[in-house]
Amino acid sequence: MERFKQKHLLGIEELSRDEIDSILDTAIIMKSVLERRIKKVPTLRGITVANLFFEPSTRTLNSFLIAERRLSADTINVSMSFSSVLKGETLLDTARNLEAMRVDMVVIRHSVPCSPHYLAERISASVINAGDGAHEHPTQALLDMLTLREKFGNIEGLKVSIIGDILHSRVARSLTMGLLKEGADVILCGPPTFLPEWFEDYGVKITYDLKEAIVGRDVIYVLRIQMERQDTAFLPSLREYIRYYSVNRDVLNRYARKDVIIMHPGPVNRGVELAPDVADGPWSLILHQVTNGIAVRMAILYLLSGIGSSGGVE
Ligand code: CP
Repeated sequence: MERFKQKHLLGIEELSRDEIDSILDTAIIMKSVLERRIKKVPTLRGITVANLFFEPSTRTLNSFLIAERRLSADTINVSMSFSSVLKGETLLDTARNLEAMRVDMVVIRHSVPCSPHYLAERISASVINAGDGAHEHPTQALLDMLTLREKFGNIEGLKVSIIGDILHSRVARSLTMGLLKEGADVILCGPPTFLPEWFEDYGVKITYDLKEAIVGRDVIYVLRIQMERQDTAFLPSLREYIRYYSVNRDVLNRYARKDVIIMHPGPVNRGVELAPDVADGPWSLILHQVTNGIAVRMAILYLLSGIGSSGGVE
């Protein structure tokens, strides 16, 4: 396996299969750290990480924070509502000022696609994409792949359907690319307004029929409708969406394998894309995904820090 040589984590698109495997292998080691009584190692002592979140987040921000603290990094948080961005400061000026404070790594979530790429070209710190508009969410895809690897042992050949608002979903894009690189069979499903035909260019099958996306599949990955990224009416009515695309117990009983797995990146809109009893039921790996987010983010911070070439996780 080749050594991890990337300076930034901008997207799944930029990663080879070997690099994805390297992150997942490292995440498994990090998970063993999280299962110790003392869940903290000195690996990133002296490294400072700035978390720039210009969009709301519960899972990604907090699991980055926990990951940074578990590795003993120093952390600072910059949010839209408490930064000088509100006074008109640009993203680049914000990042350059943090760099002047000798920040080593920047984790950024921003509504503008490719803002992490823009920063990576202009500052010397390592940049990690924590979600850029509807473009990519690489750490989510990696934690999802870790969850699948733990459950099935291997991602190659897995039959995964991603159902919902594909068009506006950065998770759908990153996860589809990651799964294809790992050799999975991917179906994308949603109403035509959420699933333009050009998604076939990714090398996946697309369908507008929920039954076709459920029969014989190993994994059903459900997405919420991204209301915050839509300025036109993509849906005739929410009731109609629920009728044709909501994953509920009745649909699973009729069409799904008995051992099907349900995943969702969160936040879940209960009763819309996913029925509450399915989200909380025996099929669901949703909270395992959240737990794995910490291990994956620890792995990424560790690999990008370059510490790996001089020493391991103590
Ligand atoms: N899955 C995800 O990105 O959740 P948050 O928006 O809460 O970070």
